[in-house]
Amino acid sequence: MAILVTGGAGYIGSHTVVELQEAGYDVVVIDNLSNSSEKSLQRVEKITSRPVTFYEVDILDREGLEKVFAAESIDCCIHFAGLKAVGESVAKPWEYYYNNISGTLTLVDVMRKHQVKNIIFSSSATVYGNPAFIPITEACPKGEITNPYGQTKGMLEQILMDMQKADPQWNVILLRYFNPIGAHKSGTIGENPNGIPNNLMPYITQVAVGKLKELGVFGNDYDTHDGTGVRDYIHVVDLAKGHVKAIEKIRQNPGIEIYNLGTGTGYSVLDIVKNFEEASGVKIPYVIKDRRAGDIATCYSDASKAEKELGWKAQYGIKEMCEDSWRWQKNNPNGYDA
Ligand code: NAD
Ligand code: UFG
Repeated sequence: MAILVTGGAGYIGSHTVVELQEAGYDVVVIDNLSNSSEKSLQRVEKITSRPVTFYEVDILDREGLEKVFAAESIDCCIHFAGLKAVGESVAKPWEYYYNNISGTLTLVDVMRKHQVKNIIFSSSATVYGNPAFIPITEACPKGEITNPYGQTKGMLEQILMDMQKADPQWNVILLRYFNPIGAHKSGTIGENPNGIPNNLMPYITQVAVGKLKELGVFGNDYDTHDGTGVRDYIHVVDLAKGHVKAIEKIRQNPGIEIYNLGTGTGYSVLDIVKNFEEASGVKIPYVIKDRRAGDIATCYSDASKAEKELGWKAQYGIKEMCEDSWRWQKNNPNGYDA
């Protein structure tokens, strides 16, 4: 039996394929390559010395999905495929709702037709909005979501929960990621954003490599230890390992479960700049800018539920996160388009 990984050529997906293969699982990847390159999977094969079965298929393409389910023996899906840029989602809401919502509805319909009713879904801490309390547990109520991307995560969580309620044969694990950064130790796979990065770490690494002039720090008047925004950065390899643990859990027929995947520690923007400078030996010039619309002051997790129930805990600290982000960027200044 194989695990279907949608969006497996992407940043978190490619790292998860490595961990799944290294744990002995057979993996089938589908991806439309809209935000990724097949080269990531070739590099995964080099890391694991195992072939990756890949289909270039869109999750909106019912016939394409049918063919994959007919050809492969799949018992579980890890569903990463989706569009994820917050700013772009505000400019292109229809595209985000269509891709993420219609794509997932199509995927789960084909899954149930083939009696595959186990899904692990990539959700996000964004569903907590401006969190009611910190550190955020899974019991924290969902908050007001300020952009269409985040709305798709909130809606898809609800859709999957409702489907599970109506048909208890489904097992649904919602994983709420905090802020993934870092890259595989080999420095051969990593985050590869299109155009100017929106997220902090890829912006910093592109400044470090000389592609961008300076970092803009979005606000230094938040109620945090140095005034800049605080987030729960998690090494992408730790996040990937969380999915392997979730596969073990889903095989026990848990029904519906929700887990935060974070480290439980918050770092500010300036903490990250400092740690990155120490790890890389490169100075990161920055200027203070206005707050970015929709940003909150502080967001970090209580991830003890995942530790207790999945036996998962993040292993890597901020030093490794910065070192590994830097190794990837330095070795691949143009991402996969070297
Ligand atoms: P990514 O863009 O690197 O990976 C997503 C992959 O999905 C890409 O390879 C893309 O080509 C593919 N894809 C998009 N639409 C598709 C479609 N219609 N059919 C088939 N493939 C499609 O992003 P990532 O950072 O690896 O994120 C993976 C998942 O985790 C996403 O669902 C994202 O929303 C979620 N997530 C990411 C973060 C983060 O900060 N990176 C945080 C929380 C949640
Ligand atoms: N920041 C800057 N300058 C930049 C980019 C970011 O100062 O150029 C700051 C932000 O203001 C924020 C922090 O760095 O305080 C982190 O910002 P990111 O854009 O890296 O991450 P976010 O916390 O805003 O959002 C990310 C993902 C979302 C996801 C969320 C929670 O982009 O998709 O984490 O998982 F929902």
